Amino acid sequence: MNIKEHIEFCEATAPSSTANLGPGFDVFGLGLDLFYDKVSIHKLATKNGRIKIILGDDTNIPSQVIENSASLSVMKFAQKYKIKDDLDIRITKGVPIGLGLGSSAASSAAAVIAFNELFQCRLTGNELLEFAAEGEVSSAGVKHYDNVAASLFGGFVIVRTSPTLQFIKVKTPKDLILVVCVPDIVTAAKKTKVARSLIPKDIPIKDLTKNLSNACIIVSGFFLQDTDLIAKGIIDTIVESARKILIDGYDEVRSNALGSGALAVTISGAGPSMIAFTKSTKNARKIGNAMEQGFIDSKVKSRSYICHPSNEAKVISKF
Ligand code: HSE
Repeated sequence: MNIKEHIEFCEATAPSSTANLGPGFDVFGLGLDLFYDKVSIHKLATKNGRIKIILGDDTNIPSQVIENSASLSVMKFAQKYKIKDDLDIRITKGVPIGLGLGSSAASSAAAVIAFNELFQCRLTGNELLEFAAEGEVSSAGVKHYDNVAASLFGGFVIVRTSPTLQFIKVKTPKDLILVVCVPDIVTAAKKTKVARSLIPKDIPIKDLTKNLSNACIIVSGFFLQDTDLIAKGIIDTIVESARKILIDGYDEVRSNALGSGALAVTISGAGPSMIAFTKSTKNARKIGNAMEQGFIDSKVKSRSYICHPSNEAKVISKF
């Protein structure tokens, strides 16, 4: 017999992530053990289908339910399962907003994990992914699954959306080190939507072939647990060249990272953070400093971080 626990409060946490990894636009996501969001959901005694965002110290996040990725995901989840309980949602941001580190996705992923536990829905990974992706509409204007998949499941995740939603999580090599350089700038509210609008609508077949082969190299690298091979595939000929104009210092950061021994460097998600790949713990700080210098040369302050792939989102408290 399946007896449901009675839970009134649940809090979950989900990691930051990087999407695309160069050629894997909207397909590849990698969870980053760097920043974490926490989302708690409190089930109230009333049942009017009301969702309220309780703002803490972080007043930078949208307070309208459909503008906020966490509450939008919860709203879609509750509607689908006809759950009418009034809910208070509290979001504690750890992932910097609008900088290409999957901030909205981390909130959505934590919210979906907390809601699933609170109402004992026992959804499959695919179902959780579908609701978490709903939250992305609030910032990107469309559902994209790469960041939410990485935040939900951790590690390296490949997502296919058509004809049916499917994700594959692949183990990450132990020697994979990421150097993330985060510029100290405030981006437009719908930055991802703007960055997506720059992507060319028509793609020459030769560029498509290059990207496809590089994406295959990345996937092979993860399956073979070969960081050098992964890095060889991190070259994008379609999206990155269209978007780099949004990042002051892009060329300098890129060439400084490679000049300091990085195996690969690319835009993290829709940017403006940049991410470099290395196997050398010794070299990682040097790469980070060189990337910061690249931003300084364009009069942009930044801060670099060294991290590894993350684990999955999880429940941290319930009663
Ligand atoms: N794949 C998405 C994009 C990720 O590049 O627009 C956004 O973080």
